[in-house]
Amino acid sequence: MDLFEYQAKELFAKHGVPTTPGRVADTAEEAEQIAAEIGKPVVVKAQVKTGGRGKAGGVKLASDPADAKAKAEGILGLDIKGHVVKRLLVAEASDIKEEYYISFLLDRANRTFLAMCSKEGGVEIEQVAAETPDALARVAVDPNEGVDLAFARKIAEGGKLPAEVLDAAAETIAKLWEVFVKEDTLLVEVNPLVRTPDDQILALDGKVTLDGNADFRQPEHEEFVDAEAADPLEAKAKAKGLNYVKLDGEVGIIGNGAGLVMSTLDVVAYAGEEFGGVKPANFLDIGGGASAEVMANGLDVILNDPSVKSVFVNVFGGITACDAVANGIVNALEILGDDANKPLVVRLDGNNVVEGRRILDEAAHPLVQQVDTMDGAAARAAELAAAAK
Ligand SMILES: Nc1ncnc2c1ncn2[C@@H]1O[C@H](COP(=O)(O)OP(=O)(O)O)[C@@H](O)[C@H]1O
Ligand SMILES: [Mg+2]
Repeated sequence: MDLFEYQAKELFAKHGVPTTPGRVADTAEEAEQIAAEIGKPVVVKAQVKTGGRGKAGGVKLASDPADAKAKAEGILGLDIKGHVVKRLLVAEASDIKEEYYISFLLDRANRTFLAMCSKEGGVEIEQVAAETPDALARVAVDPNEGVDLAFARKIAEGGKLPAEVLDAAAETIAKLWEVFVKEDTLLVEVNPLVRTPDDQILALDGKVTLDGNADFRQPEHEEFVDAEAADPLEAKAKAKGLNYVKLDGEVGIIGNGAGLVMSTLDVVAYAGEEFGGVKPANFLDIGGGASAEVMANGLDVILNDPSVKSVFVNVFGGITACDAVANGIVNALEILGDDANKPLVVRLDGNNVVEGRRILDEAAHPLVQQVDTMDGAAARAAELAAAAK
């Protein structure tokens, strides 16, 4: 999960990373009030989960509370790359002498962690990487060694930060590593990390991506969840313990096991090319169990997605036998009644397939069609979705 800047800065503060004091505002009046409390010039910053806010007019200096209110009015409601601004961070404006870049991230390709550092911060780092690659240091971090002060200094040196600030930068970089590890993140990025005229180092921006796999041991991160932004169907699926992901297409997909579900996505996308580019609308992994209840919950989620025009249920019976799945489907449709209103293409194979297919044939539900092969079923589901578009 990506965090808003103000949330990232809460984590920074917790680990002693220096930033400028500030608070969050939902209205222009609140922004004015916070500016009055700070009693100095402030920056009013759009809180949206995308970069380039400054360029888009989402970061403005304000000299006094009245100005902060005016700037807030201009920024609230602004659309920045598809993200509408509903919240602002009002923070003390700092004097900036230079802007640097620092980040820690997971380097999947090299199976390690990576620090990136540059004295050319403030601007988009992709641009620095593309135009002046030498200006961006990439330093591998051994997960067993971590980043102590000495190593943090090496990272700063690699980024060619000036000698006067190396010690201060090293301290901040070591603390950012602490954020990276202790908060179970996949990314900690500060752009800009600034040098003030008196050679202090401050994190003026913050981007943090939390590793959802560690949620179980980070109960405090729960409060960062942006309930408003969550897709209601994803929330519903999550509450029912289902793995559901929303996509852009028209064919709803239910399968058992992540591997099968992933390949089902590919097969449907491929089959859909023949039908005007029909694509998967979502996918839902019902996992090992396929009881009527799990199937009903799964179908309930999938059928409530308005973009779904047809559903492909692709199950390979392993530990769960096909007859249990077939019974699950029949009972689920009974539970859902009139709420089930889109065609279902079912492909069953594996353990007890003959009995499973017989159960579905016998039930002869008007919405259900069986196709015996995965490719054939994908094509049928795509065809039905195209016809309903
Ligand atoms: N507290 C602050 N004081 C002074 N200038 C700031 C402050 N925060 C941000 N800025 C300026 O605004 C620019 C853009 O802000 P930033 O938080 O990096 O947003 P984004 O990366 O989304 O554009 C920074 O590079 C910096 O020059
Ligand atoms: Mg930035």
